[in-house]
Amino acid sequence: MPKPRKHVFVCSQSRPPGHPKGSCVQNGGSELLQAFWQELQKRNLFDQIAVSYTGCIGPCDIGPNVLVYPEGTLYVRVEKSDIAEIFDQHLLGDTPVERLLAPTEIWN
Ligand code: FES
Repeated sequence: MPKPRKHVFVCSQSRPPGHPKGSCVQNGGSELLQAFWQELQKRNLFDQIAVSYTGCIGPCDIGPNVLVYPEGTLYVRVEKSDIAEIFDQHLLGDTPVERLLAPTEIWN
């Protein structure tokens, strides 16, 4: 198995209805994950990019959230319509998509 250049983790955490933290699944995380896998398949980039689901990665209320390694770039409120841009600009072009970056305040 070749080592991926980029590894994309899509938050697929769910929580019961009414939970105070909400969840990325509640905000469309499952559909987003499927769309990432479809894009990966469409582009046939399995030898360069890995896409995995993950549990909660932090800012649940502004999900669905996506984490990209090796940079540790966190994207928030990602929509299916953002996926092509993430592939083109970041996963292949090595430049993060600024408008989707998590606000720095969440790290304080
Ligand atoms: S549920 Fe996705 S970041 Fe917490």
